[in-house]
Amino acid sequence: MKILLTGGTGYIGSHCALALLQAGHSVTLLDNLSNSDAAVVSRIRQLYQPQSAEAAELSFIQGDIRDEVLLERLLSTQRYDAVMHFAGLKAVGESWLQPADYYQHNFNGTLLLASLMQKHQLPCLLFSSSATVYAASATALDEQSPCAPASPYGRSKYFVEAMLKDLQQANPAFSVILLRYFNPAGAHHSALLGEAPCGTPNNLLPFVAEVASGQRDEIQVFGDDYPTADGTGVRDYIHVEDVAQGHVLALQQHQAEPGVHLYNLGRGQGYSVLQVIQAFEQSCGRVLPYRITTRRPGDLPSTVACADKAQQLLGFTARRDLQQMTDDAWRWQQQLQQRPVVQPQLSPITDKATTGQDGVKHEPC
Ligand code: NAD
Ligand code: UD1
Repeated sequence: MKILLTGGTGYIGSHCALALLQAGHSVTLLDNLSNSDAAVVSRIRQLYQPQSAEAAELSFIQGDIRDEVLLERLLSTQRYDAVMHFAGLKAVGESWLQPADYYQHNFNGTLLLASLMQKHQLPCLLFSSSATVYAASATALDEQSPCAPASPYGRSKYFVEAMLKDLQQANPAFSVILLRYFNPAGAHHSALLGEAPCGTPNNLLPFVAEVASGQRDEIQVFGDDYPTADGTGVRDYIHVEDVAQGHVLALQQHQAEPGVHLYNLGRGQGYSVLQVIQAFEQSCGRVLPYRITTRRPGDLPSTVACADKAQQLLGFTARRDLQQMTDDAWRWQQQLQQRPVVQPQLSPITDKATTGQDGVKHEPC
């Protein structure tokens, strides 16, 4: 297949791009680089070592999903079999401060993309949704669990899901795949791809990694009075390479199957904040200082997936455990600090900014 992958130089998108290439699918990355680096393209290329001349191809376009002229030109001149849509904003706290930006990028951007896809009769859109759409629950969350997103970010995801369902109903030939990720974590085992948050990390794993590397003094544990085994928050962490594998399986299964296909991507196993810290201590070989602080507003005690549907219908199992997530996160963190400012390698298709047959500018990568 030939896949357009928005947000393709980001954390999850880059891992999915590599997994798609390795599964034999050609990939065009579209990203405005607002939260990623074009050097990621070279690293995906470095990891993807094609075995034959008919190998899958990788290309990159720097652009914004809200740019209607760009999207129109791209979708009218290229025949994609599917779009995997990762581009968007994802910080819960920021979404309270700048809700309009979240609805602009996440909702309006997706509406434009999906509308143009339908106009040009592209058959399949896979959307990055989130466990954040669910209401609090003391038990594992399955795809039928009630939804009650508690932030502008969460609502932008929930509204996009509803909008895509409506578009699909009006265009029954369309295939919509909605994947609700729980807590993606870790990095590629090569340590060439991973998450590089700007400023103070919002999420636990990147924060712990920065304490382990000495960039920060101590971890703040947000509350130890939750009704969980050790009192700290419990989450369903899933290795980002498993997340990527889930995308390939979902796409291969449903690309040509009209309808709405909704899956959780999780492991079905919860770990507390203290368990994550312990696993990271094993990975980095030292004791990590932490301090118990007050609860973070909006946090739930425990969020764990029921992962049965993806296993039964897609044959998906998240194989990598918490220790592998923290091992890979630590390797990535170490090389992040050692890496000089990278001048990305130039490749034949992107040596210089060119305008391809599609009339679209291919920026240097
Ligand atoms: P990320 O920020 O690393 O990747 C998103 C990419 O989209 C970035 O490279 C950014 O430059 C790009 N982008 C942002 N707005 C854009 C726009 N308007 N046009 C073009 N490119 C744009 O984030 P990620 O962790 O890889 O998340 C990918 C998707 O998965 C997001 O939609 C996010 O909401 C969703 N998600 C992530 C998590 C998580 O824990 N990382 C959990 C659930 C859902
Ligand atoms: C957060 C978002 C969620 C989003 C997900 C993406 C909130 C409220 N939720 O989920 O919408 O989909 O990221 O990855 O922001 N913790 C600490 N100290 C820290 C950081 C976190 O103790 O410095 C705790 C939290 O209280 C929580 C657990 O670690 O119990 C995981 O937190 P985090 O990584 O931020 O993920 P979520 O809150 O699950």
